[in-house]
Amino acid sequence: MPKVAQSTKPIYQNAEASIDERVEDLLSRMTIEEKVGQMTQLDITLINKTGKQKDVELVDKKARYYLKEHHIGSFLNGEAVPATAWYTYIYNLQKIAVEETRLGIPIIYGIDHMHGASYVDDSTIFPHNINLGATFNADHAKENGNITVLESADLGHHWIFAPVLDIGRDPRWARLYETFGESTHVAATMGEAFVKAVQDHKEVAPYKVAATGKHFLGYSAPSSGWDRTPVDLSDQTIFEIYVPSFQKAIDAGLKAIMLNSSEISGIPVHASKKIVTDLLRKKMGFKGLILTDWDDLGKLVDYHHTAKDYTQATEMAINAGIDMNMTPNSLDFNESLLELVKDGRVKESRLDESVRRILKLKFELGLFEHPFPRNDRFQRIGASENRAKAKAAADESIILLKNKYNTLPISADTKDILLIGPNANSKSALGGGWTLGWQGAEPERYPKDMHTIYTALKDRFPDSDITLLPTTVSDSRVVKEAKKHDLILVAIGEEPYTEFIGNITTLELPADQKSLIKAAASANKPLVGIFVGGRPLIVEDVIEDMSSYLWTGLPGFEGAEAIADILAGNVNPSAKLPLSYPLFASHFVPYNHKSSSVYKFDPEQANFIMQEEHSVWQWPFGHGLSYTSFEYSKIRLSKTVLSKNDKIEATVTIKNSGSRAGKEAVIWYLKDHVGSITRPVKEVKHFEKISLEPGQSKEVSFTIEPAKHLGFPDFDGTYILESGMYTLNIGGKLAEFELLDD
Ligand code: BGC
Repeated sequence: MPKVAQSTKPIYQNAEASIDERVEDLLSRMTIEEKVGQMTQLDITLINKTGKQKDVELVDKKARYYLKEHHIGSFLNGEAVPATAWYTYIYNLQKIAVEETRLGIPIIYGIDHMHGASYVDDSTIFPHNINLGATFNADHAKENGNITVLESADLGHHWIFAPVLDIGRDPRWARLYETFGESTHVAATMGEAFVKAVQDHKEVAPYKVAATGKHFLGYSAPSSGWDRTPVDLSDQTIFEIYVPSFQKAIDAGLKAIMLNSSEISGIPVHASKKIVTDLLRKKMGFKGLILTDWDDLGKLVDYHHTAKDYTQATEMAINAGIDMNMTPNSLDFNESLLELVKDGRVKESRLDESVRRILKLKFELGLFEHPFPRNDRFQRIGASENRAKAKAAADESIILLKNKYNTLPISADTKDILLIGPNANSKSALGGGWTLGWQGAEPERYPKDMHTIYTALKDRFPDSDITLLPTTVSDSRVVKEAKKHDLILVAIGEEPYTEFIGNITTLELPADQKSLIKAAASANKPLVGIFVGGRPLIVEDVIEDMSSYLWTGLPGFEGAEAIADILAGNVNPSAKLPLSYPLFASHFVPYNHKSSSVYKFDPEQANFIMQEEHSVWQWPFGHGLSYTSFEYSKIRLSKTVLSKNDKIEATVTIKNSGSRAGKEAVIWYLKDHVGSITRPVKEVKHFEKISLEPGQSKEVSFTIEPAKHLGFPDFDGTYILESGMYTLNIGGKLAEFELLDD
């Protein structure tokens, strides 16, 4: 019998062995320095030529220093450059990690692809999440994840820092547009769709990509409205509003979570064992990798002032439960952590817990078998079928909030159109932050073939005369020009911003934009406001001057075409507000507020009158017009009394009663009449999007399961279910039912 040759390959390099065996084998071979290195994530600027984000030219010497002498396990960042440049950079970086380090552990590369592969030239750019929320169609969140990975996995972008699972309840917050809006249920549904699309992608084989839920937890609720400022939340609110979007993603297999940079109720999250270990790990059962946000250990020292130096900050964060530190610009973390281990303040077994998770992720993604990028499928990047998906998402994400006298769609015989306003001919406004660069790149870096509102309109209205006035035009010239035209379009809104750069001191529409609208309106011609930006800015002073108002959010590279198609009537708008559009610049109330949040003082009764439908919103959550009309039948309930183990089937027939085909976002809300903890006046529990031809009807249904839809968490996160009356609400139709004690 011939002798079978014994393989000398270590177990960790044997793809046939189980992941657990491989992890344990590799871990047993690692020094403390190598373990600490795996727990460190460094920025691209430390290893590239110029120290600038938009530079993927690797300096081998620098890379060798960090990889060979400090055993770094992960790098992040960069800005949009050609695919070939990414390929070469990651290839060279990985080659050093795999071929020149002692154990050959591949690096994992993390990147902020927030709405498409936004840091790859010529890629497909989707609308931002706030727009996807407005579609009320989770397929668009799925396609966003799908196309992002399709256009970046081959380049060695192993780890996407998305989705944002924060809940956008404060319109002032600069990162509102990164959220899916105000509803926990909408965010949870969209987030889950994105995570599955990213992580279960089949077409990018042999690669696999990890998604990151961020920013755990409550990041979106700073009291001041400014980014990364203190958050004060009750435990009950945390469980009811902020936990479910993360929980759903975790249950769908989410591989990584990034933490919130700010403090919650006095403790910075990065130092909070209560949030990171007790809540996220133990209660929510998250087994994946926990990553810090940018320099958040440094922030424990010089921002929050809870640690006297970096070493203490490191000890706090390690004790809280982090696995990897986005340091990202120094070796402070490595030095501190090594010191802590040598001093016995952090046990090596604690390092092992985190390194196991990091190695497990690398094995799960197949990085040991397929460490290198490939360059033979670049034709996928920005392919027309991918762009068609981004366009479809944009079409369904633009909200028609007002349409007096059916000013829209613009009739084909409109000859003279005047287009004015700061966003009329801007590409970068449509992309917003996180587009090609951190703050949304300089306009000249946007694709040549991308349309602005102006160029898309010229394309859609070839027989009309479209006059574009420069942004610097005086109001008096606007008045003169307006008189000469049949229709005036005013493109207002915001310039791109990201994170704290977008902090504001008022939610008012800027004064110059208001006066532009007033000047244009003085001609008494139909006037359409087109808002491009990440927030609902207050339009109370000017809304009467506008016959129609479109809130376009940040619709991405296909956004102008979607806007033009809606203006022209080629696309029937079907988006609805995923947040409450406030009426006042300093008073915000989300749709799912408590009943005592809104009241008016009635002088006749000399008392406060509580009211559900009230006057603090310009438009409520879920508002959005169509060029057709939909009629909702009465709600039919399979029963009106149920026990806690029972179910109710609710059915409604929706008819397109207008003359155009259209899509309708169907949103089911529930209200609990009496609760031992105050209940929201209503809560989204289910939604879907349907298409109807003129005259066509469709039945939609929703199965109410008490344990899933009628309970709520208490202060410990324990789900409680209380008997009593509930109201179901859809399309303004109401139906009551009663939950009995068992
Ligand atoms: C942001 C994160 C982002 C990270 C890396 C941070 O400033 O808060 O959302 O993923 O930078 O760029």
